[in-house]
Amino acid sequence: MITYTSLPIAGAEKQSERETMPKTAVLYASGFTKNTQRIAEYISSKTGAETFDLKKNTPADLDQYDTIIFGTGVHAGKPYAPVQKFISDNREILKNKKVKLFITCMYNDEKGKNQCARISGMWGIPDAVFFNKKEDRMNADGIPVSVDEFIKGLRCRFFRLLSLPRCIS
Ligand SMILES: Cc1cc2nc3c(=O)[nH]c(=O)nc-3n(C[C@H](O)[C@H](O)[C@H](O)COP(=O)(O)O)c2cc1C
Repeated sequence: MITYTSLPIAGAEKQSERETMPKTAVLYASGFTKNTQRIAEYISSKTGAETFDLKKNTPADLDQYDTIIFGTGVHAGKPYAPVQKFISDNREILKNKKVKLFITCMYNDEKGKNQCARISGMWGIPDAVFFNKKEDRMNADGIPVSVDEFIKGLRCRFFRLLSLPRCIS
């Protein structure tokens, strides 16, 4: 009798990682250097999250997402207006979501931290990080390694919700 053992399927591990993610949308606005867009698309490529460029379109129905990640650059101390508007327009529904924020910016160290704290306070999103090319080491894709840490944190949080004793490394 011939027995067939199943071979590992390429990409299967990635797929199972995606299945551990809560349904997530990345809503961002980006300027001409497209730094924020690049990071939003990278997060999506690693997690299966859907991305929306708020300068062009918005999700038809926020109810289908458990987690919303906002992304913005900063010009003259101000985050981008389409993100600001979306948050103001959807404040009530966002109260029932896990909401995170990432900022791409040129300030690092204390200045970067203070700027991030100010914007996260203004928008009422305490779960906020900033990514900065000057400060960060880059991964093989040319993305700050802190973005990979951020992604890892998304998965860890889900495992904690399930009371599983590990997170994907
Ligand atoms: C005109 C201008 C003003 C900027 N002002 C700030 C600022 O106040 N604080 C900061 O940290 N970065 C500032 N930056 C840097 C951008 O926020 C940063 O490069 C960001 O990643 C740009 O994202 P984007 O390419 O998606 O627009 C500024 C950049 C430009 C071009």
